[in-house]
Amino acid sequence: MPPAPFLSRVLPRNTGFLLLATVVVLQLSAATPATSDLELGRQLFQNLCVTCHGFAGAGGDAPVLARAKLLRAPDDDALRALIAEGLPDRGMPRVRRLTENELRGLVTYVRSLGSVPPAPAPGNAPNGQQIYLRLGCAACHTINGQGGTIGPELTAIGRMRGAEYLRQSVVNPGAVLPRGTLPIPARGLSEYLPVVIVPREGPPVKGLRLNEDSFTIQVRNNMNSIQSFRKSDLERIEKQPGKSQMPVYTAQLKAAELNDLVAYLCSLGAAP
Ligand code: HEC
Ligand code: HEC
Repeated sequence: MPPAPFLSRVLPRNTGFLLLATVVVLQLSAATPATSDLELGRQLFQNLCVTCHGFAGAGGDAPVLARAKLLRAPDDDALRALIAEGLPDRGMPRVRRLTENELRGLVTYVRSLGSVPPAPAPGNAPNGQQIYLRLGCAACHTINGQGGTIGPELTAIGRMRGAEYLRQSVVNPGAVLPRGTLPIPARGLSEYLPVVIVPREGPPVKGLRLNEDSFTIQVRNNMNSIQSFRKSDLERIEKQPGKSQMPVYTAQLKAAELNDLVAYLCSLGAAP
């Protein structure tokens, strides 16, 4: 304890000790509640949030939370409200009813993540952009208004997903299918659900389901045009959850190129 020798020189012995003891007691009482909020928040996060937001908020199929600034939670009140209510129409559920203590813990923990941002993904983003163009990703994906629409828009993908998820989406697309943002959980999970439509007459049609209700189903076929079917005209609909429509790119990419491509994807829409 460094101050002790100094204090004992300028103050009578016992005063110095008393002062020091007081400081220690004050520090302990100030530190204890904060530490337990943080610890409570950490445990809750492990149970309720980690599947989507990744370990320590490093990002997964939901945004990285280890950032100094959160777009949808500029201050603690907004963060608290967001955790309490979720963003059900954006793929973030209201996880469960949380007590005041639990909310305080989660706010404290999420804020603490932002103080140590994770290391940026290794790789060179401008190189990655060239690779993105070379591999023809834009045939299916739109970035800033440019490109196709078979796959999801990637304009802000770096804000929405973590680096590891983005890496997987290139090397093993089936492993990380987007959850989708539809409010009805049963449907939201498979927004890019591959289907094979087998009509009573005529050839089967392969494509991605765009929409479905009790009587009809709309599909974007592999030629990128949209077809609608009446279910009463169909023999069957084969749904293929977990089956990606995206080509696998491992063979075309050296390790360093993959890093560059991931760095580029991470940079898209990421807060500065
Ligand atoms: C089922 C997946 C899922 C779970 C579970 C989940 N979230 Fe989210 N969360 C999301 C998604 C998706 C978004 C992005 C919404 C958007 O911006 O469109 C999000 C956004 C956020 C944001 C705003 C991020 C930003 O950059 O503005 C915060 C903060 C957040 N979540 C905290 C939490 C906490 C804390 C928990 C656990 C109590 C949690 N989330 C549980 C999916 C989830
Ligand atoms: C033939 C069309 C097609 C091509 C080409 C393609 N993708 Fe995809 N991509 C998809 C589809 C469809 C999905 C939706 C999920 C699935 O089916 O895998 C997807 C999903 C993704 C996702 C996840 C998006 C999200 O919201 O989670 C990323 C990232 C991605 N693609 C990046 C790329 C990159 C990088 C390339 C080029 C190396 C590429 N894609 C080439 C069709 C394609």
